[in-house]
Amino acid sequence: MPIKPFIVLAYLLAATTLSVHAQNNLSGLADPLTMADGSKVTTAKQWHKRRKELLHFFTTEMYGQQPKRPASMTFKVSESSKTALGGLATRKQVTVYFNGKPNGPQMDLLIYLPNQVKKPGVILQLGFNGNQTLSNDTAVKISSSWVANGKTAVNNKATEASRGKTPNADVEMILKRGYGFATIYCGDIDPDFDDGFKNGVHALYPKLQGRGDNFSTIGAWAWGLSRALDYLETDKDIDAKKVVVFGFSRLGKAALWAGATDQRFAMVLSNESGAGGVRIFRRGKGEDIKHLCTSFPHWFDANFRKYIGRDTLLPFDQHLVISLVAPRPIAIGSALGDQYSDPEGEFLGGVYASPVYRLLGTTGLPATQMPGLNEPVAGQIQYHIRPGNHNILTYDWQQYLNFMDKHFK
Ligand code: GCU
Repeated sequence: MPIKPFIVLAYLLAATTLSVHAQNNLSGLADPLTMADGSKVTTAKQWHKRRKELLHFFTTEMYGQQPKRPASMTFKVSESSKTALGGLATRKQVTVYFNGKPNGPQMDLLIYLPNQVKKPGVILQLGFNGNQTLSNDTAVKISSSWVANGKTAVNNKATEASRGKTPNADVEMILKRGYGFATIYCGDIDPDFDDGFKNGVHALYPKLQGRGDNFSTIGAWAWGLSRALDYLETDKDIDAKKVVVFGFSRLGKAALWAGATDQRFAMVLSNESGAGGVRIFRRGKGEDIKHLCTSFPHWFDANFRKYIGRDTLLPFDQHLVISLVAPRPIAIGSALGDQYSDPEGEFLGGVYASPVYRLLGTTGLPATQMPGLNEPVAGQIQYHIRPGNHNILTYDWQQYLNFMDKHFK
C-alpha cells in the first residue's frame, strides 16, 4: 500500500517537534496525549477521555467552575434597523437578562449582519469599555455598566464621548468580507476589578465562591460568551454553526477558555492573549503567574495561586488548553513589540497542541520554527506575527478573515 503524503508530513512534523522541544529547553512539558495515569492516547475515542480529564483539570486548577445555562434567562431584541452603517448592515441590539429579571444582571449584545449575505457566519467579540466604543453609530446604546475611569468615563460610567473611541474591530471590513459581527462588553458580565465576586453575574452564584475552584472573572467572561451564543442560536438570520469567538489580550484568554469549554463555537481567534492564554508558561519569559495572580486576583480561581513561582515547573501548560479546541480551527496572533505576551511562547502553544489535531486527522500548525514577520502559517491552527505593539490592527483582522474564508468558504 502506498504511504499517504499526509502520514509522512505528520511523521516529519512530529520528529521536528521533538527537536524544537529540546531547543527551547521545554523538557518536562506535559504531553497532551498521555493520560494522568501514564497511559498513552492513540485513538480519537481515547482523546475524548483525555479531553474530559484536561477540562476537569483546568476547571479545578485555573479558570474555575461555571454554572449551567440559567433556566430563567431571557432575551429581548430592543432595537433593530435594516439600514445601519449607511445601508451596509442590519443592526440588532439584544439584552440578555441572565436571571430573567429586568433589574438583575444583564448584558447588551450588539449585532451587525451584512445585508449582502443571507444567514452569515458571525464573529462574536468580547469587548472592552462598552459596545458604543466600537463605532460612531449613534444608535448604539451607551453601556450603563461599570467602566474603568479614563478620558471618557466619569465616576465609572461611560459617557457620550466614548462613542467610537476604541474601535478594536474593522466592522465595515468584516461585513464587506461577508461575515456578521457581534459584540458584548466584558463589564456587563463581570466588572474588571477585584470586589470579592459580589457584582456582575457572580452575585447570582454565591455558592460558587469561597472555594478553590471558584467561578472566576475570566471564567465568567467565557460563560457570558456562551450565553451570547445561546441568543445567536435562536436568531434565524445567523448561521449559528459558524460562530467564531474572538478576544484580545485578557479577553483573548477568556475567548480561548470559551472555545475550550463550549464546542458550539466553530472557531477561536485569540489575539495576543499571552500568559493564561495561548502562551507556554514553562519558558519563563514574559508575564508570570505571580503577576497574573497579584495584579488581577479575580481573573483566575483561588487554586491557581498554588502555582505562583512555579512557572517553569508546571505539571500542565497552555498548549493543553488549546488542544481542548481541537479539531476546531484556532488562529493565534502575536506582535513583535508585545514581548510581555512572549510571541514565541504563543507560537509554541500552537506547536505543542498540534499532536492532538494530527491524532484527530487534521494538520495542526504546520510549522515548528517561528515564521517571519507578516508571514502567516496556516493549517487547522494558524499563527501570525506582525511588527508593532500590543494591539489589534487591521492587519490582524485580515489574517483572521483569511483564516475564516479558508475554513468556511
Ligand atoms: C495586562 C496583563 C495581561 C493582559 C493585558 C491586557 O498587561 O498583565 O495579562 O493580557 O493587561 O488585557 O491588555
